[in-house]
Amino acid sequence: MRKKIIAANWKMNQTIADAASYLDSFLLEVADEKRIDIVIVPPFTALAYVSERLSKVQHVKSGAQNMHWEKNGAFTGEISAGMIRELFARYVVLGHSERRTLFGETDEIVNKKTKAAIAATLTPIVCIGETLAERDAGQVEQVLHTQLTGSLAGIPAKELADVVLAYEPVWAIGTGRTATPEQAQEAHAYIRKVLAEISDAATAEKVRIQYGGSVKPGNTGALMGQPDIDGALVGGASLVARDFAEIVKISA
Ligand code: G3H
Repeated sequence: MRKKIIAANWKMNQTIADAASYLDSFLLEVADEKRIDIVIVPPFTALAYVSERLSKVQHVKSGAQNMHWEKNGAFTGEISAGMIRELFARYVVLGHSERRTLFGETDEIVNKKTKAAIAATLTPIVCIGETLAERDAGQVEQVLHTQLTGSLAGIPAKELADVVLAYEPVWAIGTGRTATPEQAQEAHAYIRKVLAEISDAATAEKVRIQYGGSVKPGNTGALMGQPDIDGALVGGASLVARDFAEIVKISA
């Protein structure tokens, strides 16, 4: 049985002051939700603050939204896995579609970052998903296959088992248009099939696959009821503490 994992991707939102008042109410709301892993992914500027607050809470961890694959060097504006780990963050989101489309991240880059994250004992949340044009052209499986084999190339089964994947159809991100539970389940089942091909069936069964794309309290129950959906990566609805707490409670 895979433990569900629900993550709040705040993207480029929330100051430290915003994070403080958010956590004041959110941590009270989810104090008893210990059957589920909860992750808060703030912008880098609030990561130290959020990590410090969460150091006193066992079941809620922090994560970063991106990182560079090198340990250090002349990479202006970049942050390494070791720097994230130094803040006691446990997770890092990699290959989000906004990084892929707006900042040119390829599967090869995501692969380097995933390996560097694992080497630094960070748990990667690796994002994949098709655009609307690709879905309309009947290319969902082909796109997912390419992204999975490219982003996860060369990662041994033992390490792959602890990687978290996030299936985020690009057409559902921030659009209010969610994949139906059936569409999401179909994609998740396919992802697990590909994982079995690139590792083995037992490893594929262990990998947690989140759904992301306009997740809200109102659609969480039906999505989380699907056999291959193991959590959610929540954007817009995670910015309101009460809404995100509601999503956590429905998922638990
Ligand atoms: O990382 C989160 C996803 O991009 C989903 O964002 O919930 O605002 O659609 P959204």
